[in-house]
Amino acid sequence: METLAILVAAGRGERMGAERPKAFLDLAGRPLLLRTALAFDASPTVGGIVAVVPAGLEGDARSMLAAVGKLRAVARGGMRRQDSVLEGLRHVPDDFDGVVLVHDAARPFVDADLIGAVAAAAGEYGAALPVLPLVDTVKRVRDGNVVETVDRDELGAAQTPQGFRFDVLGRAYEEAFRDGVTVTDEAMAVERLGERVVAVAGRSDNVKLTTPADWAWAESVLMAREGRA
Ligand code: C5P
Repeated sequence: METLAILVAAGRGERMGAERPKAFLDLAGRPLLLRTALAFDASPTVGGIVAVVPAGLEGDARSMLAAVGKLRAVARGGMRRQDSVLEGLRHVPDDFDGVVLVHDAARPFVDADLIGAVAAAAGEYGAALPVLPLVDTVKRVRDGNVVETVDRDELGAAQTPQGFRFDVLGRAYEEAFRDGVTVTDEAMAVERLGERVVAVAGRSDNVKLTTPADWAWAESVLMAREGRA
């Protein structure tokens, strides 16, 4: 099934102490967004890529992604994650009947196996995402005090790429926007319709680079892997 990837890189989250958004910062020799885009470019599953970046950085993103052969468009992001995804979806043709993958630019360690597994499950069932089982015991904490130990057997951490048949995501987004609901990931928009969302095996190395410590860890892994340690 034809597959398009939307890479969201427009958040105003942690800036790693720098002025520029983290997707544009150099991570062991290459900007984070470029690394993530190249992972999708190298996937035989993916036919096209749309990058969603902060307003004003569209030109910079186009230059930065010049080597990404499957890049179809650079879109301007919005206030919330779902606004950014919606801007990306505007670049998907109305009659597209394949799979759309939405991926955090902040997860550069995604690989072709995971992309392929999510896209295949999404094509078959309508919606799918990688979920990583929790290894730590989980506590509910209120005002600094533990009030409960939560049974972790049924809990998992949601990762990206999250994959959807385009009609499924389109319908879910339409309803979320119509109902004024904010969703923290795309799957949540589908879940609230009561539709099936399949969990595929998440990967512990598919980390979302969020803190400076994550960034330092990623640099050391990449430098070792790329022979520059
Ligand atoms: O903020 P958080 O870490 O959950 O963001 C996850 C991903 O969503 C990041 O790659 C971020 O750039 C993207 N995002 C976005 N537009 C927003 C908010 C987040 O593209 N308004």
